[in-house]
Parts: sequence; C-alpha cells; structure tokens
Amino acid sequence: MTIQWFPGHMTRARREIQEKLKLIDVVIELLDARLPLSSRNPMIDEILQGKPRMIVLNKADLADPAVTEKWVTYFKNKGILAFPVDAATGTRVQDIPAQAKVLFHDKIQKQISKGINPRAIRGLIVGIPNVGKSTLINKLAGKAIAATGDRPGVTKGQQWIKIGKEMELLDTPGILWPKFEDQEVGYRLAVTGAIKEQVIDIAEVAFYAVKYLTQYYWDTLQERFDLSKKPENFDTPDEVVEVMEEIGRKRGCIVSGGRVDLEKASGIILRELRAGKLGRISMEVPLSFML
Ligand code: G4P
Repeated sequence: MTIQWFPGHMTRARREIQEKLKLIDVVIELLDARLPLSSRNPMIDEILQGKPRMIVLNKADLADPAVTEKWVTYFKNKGILAFPVDAATGTRVQDIPAQAKVLFHDKIQKQISKGINPRAIRGLIVGIPNVGKSTLINKLAGKAIAATGDRPGVTKGQQWIKIGKEMELLDTPGILWPKFEDQEVGYRLAVTGAIKEQVIDIAEVAFYAVKYLTQYYWDTLQERFDLSKKPENFDTPDEVVEVMEEIGRKRGCIVSGGRVDLEKASGIILRELRAGKLGRISMEVPLSFML
C-alpha cells in the first residue's frame, strides 16, 4: 500500500479518530517494534486528548529483542505502558485485555463496591498504515473481521468485537499518518515496507539499509550474504555501494558487461530484510541509550 497523505486526509483521519474516542475507554497505540518513533504519528498526544492508552510494539518477531526491551523502558520512563507483541502469530496479544484490566482496576473495583456490574472496557486500535492493525484485530477476535489495507474515509457500520469477558474493541481501527517531514524517518519506514518503493527509489532505500546494517549489524549482514570485508568507513558512499555490489554478485544480479544490477540487488536485500531472513533487526534505538 502506498501512503499518500495530504492535509485534507490528515484532517479527516484526525476527525474520524476523535469521533471514535468518544465511544472508548482506552487507546491501543500500535507501533512497529523495529522503529517505534518513526512509526509514531507526530501529533498523537494532541489527537488523543489525554485518553488512557497503552503502546503495543508490534512485529516484535522481526525486531532485535534487546532493543525492544530498551523501548519498553523508554516509554515506561515517560509514564506510558508499553509491551511487545507479534500480531501475526498472536504471541502476547492477550496482554492487551490483561493490561487494560490493570489500567482500569481501581475504576472497576469502585463500581463493584457500589454494586454496579462493570461493563466491558472499550478499546480502539490506532496506528499508521501497515503497522498491523487489521492483523491484530483479527487475531484478538479469533476470526477475520478487519480487512487488511483499510483506508481512512472508507466508513462502514462500526461494531464491537468481544475480547474475552472484560474487553471489547471497535472493529475499525483509527488510521494515522506517519511523520513525513524527516527524510531519515521516510527511509526507515521504506526499509521496513511501510512506504512502498514507488515513492522512494529502491536503490536509495537499500543503500540506507546497507549503510545502517554495516554500522550496527555487520556480522549478520556478512553472514547472510557471505561478504568478504567490512567497509572501513560506512560514511563513505562508495564503500557502501561496494557492499551492495558484492551482494549483487553473490546473488547473480549481473547485467551485460559484468556490471552489477543494483536495482535487482536492492530488491533482494530489502525483501530478505523485511522477511526477517537476516535475523531480528531494529532500525531505531532510543536516543538515551546511544549516549
Ligand atoms: P494495517 O491494518 O495496519 O494496515 O496492517 P496489516 O494488518 O494489513 O498488516 C500489514 C502487514 O504486516 C501484513 O503483511 C501482515 O501480515 C504483517 N504483520 C502484521 N503483524 C505482524 C507481526 O506481528 N509480525 C510480522 N512479521 N508481520 C506482521 P502482508 O499481508 O504480507 O502485507 P504486505 O507485506 O504485502 O504489505
């Protein structure tokens, strides 16, 4: 799916979410565990207007577990509950209703003490395109409810999906726009496949990925593609291109005259990275841990 957000889209998306906020108790903010800040909407705090929320770091199966732990701590230090899940297999998705119960424990107890039978906690999943909202809704529901690839503005009758006895979810997620202003963010989103290559040149995206992997995950990259030597300086573009060319040669991406077809090599690198073939890789580390 290509992300194309214009000011009109953003206004409508924001309005749609704010309409839904009136119906719910808690927001489940879905981020990509590999790049939690880049996959976060820049105006989320303003949009949520103080609604209770939890951050769910999805696709944790593809992220570096040690880095994901750092993100959990990062959000905890900001007073926000965060935890990793893998919506595709369902790993830890049941933490969502369990944590909602913890968040509303006092309120529920108060109601019980007054003799009121507490109603189910109502949740809304929000996140940028491709972060896994539909996959998560379907997994929690235990059946196909949400069509993957939902778009803002495409409205249908809203329904509540029961998640166990104590929680229910709106069946349509809130769709947010990512941060486009920052080029680095755009590259990270493109590397993970949240922005398709039609928007950014595939070789440029692969260049960004190889440069990053050379710097932070060299051993993994070397092992996957059987590379000969680590570039002395990953900041030198020619050296990064040499790594890409070596990958191309190893994978038979050769055109007439023995030249490496960089575009084809780029496709292979990105496909394998996104599919987790290089192992679990995070594209972003909390700044506080880099110092
Ligand atoms: P969205 O509603 O937020 O737009 O996302 P959606 O559920 O459609 O998920 C986008 C892609 O991410 C899907 O792949 C889905 O299978 C994958 N996905 C969702 N959650 C997880 C997870 O926890 N781990 C992994 N590894 N993948 C996950 P797809 O159908 O192949 O789409 P695409 O890759 O062709 O875009």
